[in-house]
Amino acid sequence: MKGSFLNPSPGALAFGVLVFTSIVLVAIGPPTARKPPAIATASPASAPSQVAGPGSALVSVSVDLPDDIVPFPDGPHAAVINANCTSCHSATMALSQPRLSRDQWKAIVEKMRATYKAPVPASAVPDILDYLNAMSGKLPVSGSSPTPSDRSGGTG
Ligand code: HEC
Repeated sequence: MKGSFLNPSPGALAFGVLVFTSIVLVAIGPPTARKPPAIATASPASAPSQVAGPGSALVSVSVDLPDDIVPFPDGPHAAVINANCTSCHSATMALSQPRLSRDQWKAIVEKMRATYKAPVPASAVPDILDYLNAMSGKLPVSGSSPTPSDRSGGTG
């Protein structure tokens, strides 16, 4: 018994699959016939400050970050330390330290260079140490500082 409708021969089956695939492909159409989805072109000015979806709402907020761009105050070689030590953190990072010895400052500056890859030329280090040695502990910074003994451990 050759193929019937309920029990098709392999050839009839292949033909059926071919016809079906052709119909699907024609229905989809060539890639160029498909329109890209419309892209939202809302300008930022008209962006809503609140977007709500099922179960959640996103709200825009504006945040004022502290404006900490304090340079190192005048002192010996202030220009050198301002040029080398303010790119990653503000001067406050150093100004808020307790009074440290020149060696302790040297250890910190070396840590900046070696560990944090601060691009501080070796030739600038003595000037920076002069400044820190002369100025540390007498700098006009409000707030509490750790006591010097907390820092005596060296490079940390
Ligand atoms: C490449 C970036 C970079 C530069 C440049 C840099 N620092 Fe730092 N500094 C850091 C990082 C990172 C920390 C650690 C911050 C923290 O612990 O939150 C730090 C921390 C400090 C501290 C806090 C105490 C400590 O031991 O962590 C001091 C003081 C300090 N820096 C001084 C200096 C001085 C002086 C210079 C200039 C010679 C300098 N920094 C340049 C990245 C830098």
